[in-house]
Amino acid sequence: MANAEKWVLTVTAQTPTNIAVIKYWGKGDEDLILPINDSISVTLDPDHLCTTTSVAVSPAFTHDRMWLNGKEVSLSGGRFQNCLREVRSCANDVEDEKEGVLKSLKGLGDLHVHMCPTIDFPTAAGLASSAAGLACLVFSLAKLMNVKEDHSRLSAIARQGSGSACRSLYGGFVNGSFLKEENGSDSIAVQLADEKHWDDLVIIIAVVSSRQKETSSTSGMRETVETSMLLQHRAKEVVPERIIQMEEAIKNRDFPAFARLTCADSNQFHAVCLDTLPPIFYMNDTSHRIISCVEKWNCSEGTPQVAYTFDAGPKCRINFTQTEKLLPNFFKGCSFHFPPNSDTDLNSYVIGDQTILQDA
Ligand code: ADP
Ligand code: DP6
Ligand code: CO
Repeated sequence: MANAEKWVLTVTAQTPTNIAVIKYWGKGDEDLILPINDSISVTLDPDHLCTTTSVAVSPAFTHDRMWLNGKEVSLSGGRFQNCLREVRSCANDVEDEKEGVLKSLKGLGDLHVHMCPTIDFPTAAGLASSAAGLACLVFSLAKLMNVKEDHSRLSAIARQGSGSACRSLYGGFVNGSFLKEENGSDSIAVQLADEKHWDDLVIIIAVVSSRQKETSSTSGMRETVETSMLLQHRAKEVVPERIIQMEEAIKNRDFPAFARLTCADSNQFHAVCLDTLPPIFYMNDTSHRIISCVEKWNCSEGTPQVAYTFDAGPKCRINFTQTEKLLPNFFKGCSFHFPPNSDTDLNSYVIGDQTILQDA
């Protein structure tokens, strides 16, 4: 009987976050987290903006518990319960070679888990902590419970934790597919190209403000679904076409097309937020100045060389190509100098081999 034994099994995993270049915004089913449109993202390299999660299972544990960055949080929300239930349903027995003891995890019976995620970047600030966090949680629990299912099944489970999380199960360029079957069984992530596909694509993250956003992604998109007419047009008419064009741009490493689509989709996502009642503002003055800066630069060059994208928060992701030459010029030419004030906390994380930009 598993409960009579004294043992603890632990697993630690790391997962990077991802940046959506075609955004997911809106659910068809709140409980299953079924996105109303496909999305495409780039997964960051695991050395940056990562989340680390340790999970443990033991007959000595009396409840499922979670400590987020060392502080205990409630597991009452449906998303954690759904992920736990789904991973548990795929659990298999574990053979401990050293001790020769069989840990009976199948169905998990009355065994409980302890989960300790840590994030080394601001959470709920629009840096997609939920994407890395929930993907890592599902991945580490699946390892702990000796789950045999493949990444695509795990992506469907992570999606029930956070819509953007399904895409972090894969590296490179990923499509987070929307609802096709009623029960969401085929709402999974699909890798479009691996991390080696577009080597000279460099991503810069400018943290314009690390303050927590006022409207979480979950409640923001709920309000948009309820009140915005523009969202229906976006999901049905605009995104399906853009997904095809973006897949083509990625396949051909066509940066001008990639940049045009990325910027247009970021702007339409924020337009949809503005079309929500009451309107949601995720960008601030600094974000707007970054957009003007990039647009002016691209206009003066005649073809897009830089792209920007903003998620549900004022931080900015600027995607570059061939940045080694471009980066210093861009920042010099565009005077990337923002006077520090209470709302401006400009640090920049540079993803790649570039010099880190600090408070320019
Ligand atoms: P973000 O832009 O950071 O993704 P969201 O509003 O989508 O903001 O999600 C933030 C919430 O996601 C946090 O308040 C927390 O509940 C959850 N979250 C973030 N990281 C983790 C993690 N590593 N493990 C579990 N939950 C997490
Ligand atoms: C703007 O995945 O955080 O970053 O599914 O409610 O957890 P929930 O929302 P979340 O929303 C992400 C929104 C976005 C766009 C994207 O990542 O596709
Ligand atoms: Co999120």
